[in-house]
Amino acid sequence: MSGPLVDKHILLGVTGSIACYKAIDLASKLVQAGALVDTVMTYGATQFVTPLAFRSITHREVVTDTFDPNSQYTHEHVALARQADIVVIAPATVHTIGKLAAGLADDPLTTTIIATTAPVLVAPAMDANMYDNPATQDNLAVLRRRGMTIVGPASGRLASGLTGKGRLVEPVELLGHISALLGRDGDLAGKTIVVSAGGTMEPIDPVRVITNHSSGKMGYAVAEAVRDRGGSAVLVTAPTGLPDPPLVRVVRVKTAQEMCDAVLGEVKQADALIMAAAVADYRPEVEAGQKIKKSSDDMVISLAKTTDILEAAQGNFVKVGFAAESQNLVENAKDKVKRKNLDLIVANDITEPDSGFGTDTNRVTLISRDLQVQELPLLTKYEVGNEILDRVRELLKS
Ligand code: PMT
Repeated sequence: MSGPLVDKHILLGVTGSIACYKAIDLASKLVQAGALVDTVMTYGATQFVTPLAFRSITHREVVTDTFDPNSQYTHEHVALARQADIVVIAPATVHTIGKLAAGLADDPLTTTIIATTAPVLVAPAMDANMYDNPATQDNLAVLRRRGMTIVGPASGRLASGLTGKGRLVEPVELLGHISALLGRDGDLAGKTIVVSAGGTMEPIDPVRVITNHSSGKMGYAVAEAVRDRGGSAVLVTAPTGLPDPPLVRVVRVKTAQEMCDAVLGEVKQADALIMAAAVADYRPEVEAGQKIKKSSDDMVISLAKTTDILEAAQGNFVKVGFAAESQNLVENAKDKVKRKNLDLIVANDITEPDSGFGTDTNRVTLISRDLQVQELPLLTKYEVGNEILDRVRELLKS
């Protein structure tokens, strides 16, 4: 297993809110991503969910009492605080936020947090009026000023029946924030990388488009890998069904021309461009103003060539292309390296199982500017992203 959370010690602080049930899901997702999760629960949290739930998922001791004579830790607040790579408080109640702001340490969670030097992420969950209260806002401002990261709350339906700001941010989104925080001083810190994703849509009429099978997964995974290595990721994406990756700047486009304009604008300030998008090579010459009616047995749509974005992108940045091929993979990709003046191409045999469009994994061949060929094994798209970024980092050095 690889990824930003593997073997990381995560201290999960759970405080008393109905959103505690989501903390169980978060613990599960963290464990599945390879993290070692130690849970500390306040008394309030134990009224909503049991320590057993977290112990069953994390396979590690759950701390609920500072003075537990049976605990494996003699000074658990110090031991847990020291070994934590990150502390995540989810959900964080008004009460615990207030105690942290005041510097109090009267339960196992607050004593641990005051003893840690690890980054602290606070994910509030409360009723909207409690969140809006100036006392809560002041306390959150204090925590921010002290360097803690506040994520959320999200808006939506609250347990009280009200609708407003106060929901715990979804676990999958918290995972992105945790990965980013752990990687913030990574080897791409200070670098901006533009990544394109998805399949462009070329309108035929107000109803129909010409598009392709790209799900966006490859490009999104590259952008997340940039973020998790401390870089600033700008994701220029055609429509996909994927949620926005946290802490990635997302620029939404539809057509090849819109993607071209966005990429050429963004890349001026960037250190690298990675084009994982499946961009249409041709678009309908004319977009019909009204829905085309079924009037004859056949129909011809005249197509015009789109601008090649990689060819048009010129400047002092590392330029990486992809090549989606169904035959002559290496020869066709080598030809694109020369034609598009690339530093690196990621050749993708789209006929391979578990590879190419829509999959979570990809088997690619990397080809450098001097046409050196390196075949990679079947990897997750996130791992492929990191392989590409290893090469980009070396190219940026030289
Ligand atoms: O999105 P997924 O479902 O995860 O699928 C991933 C993928 C198969 C889309 C991805 O791995 C991939 O191979 N992307 C490139 C698809 C493609 O358009 O390849 P191409 O060989 O037609 O184009 C070569 C390169 O030129 C690509 O980097 C492309 O972005 C770029 N291009 C193409 C046309 C154009 N007008 N401008 C371009 O810059």
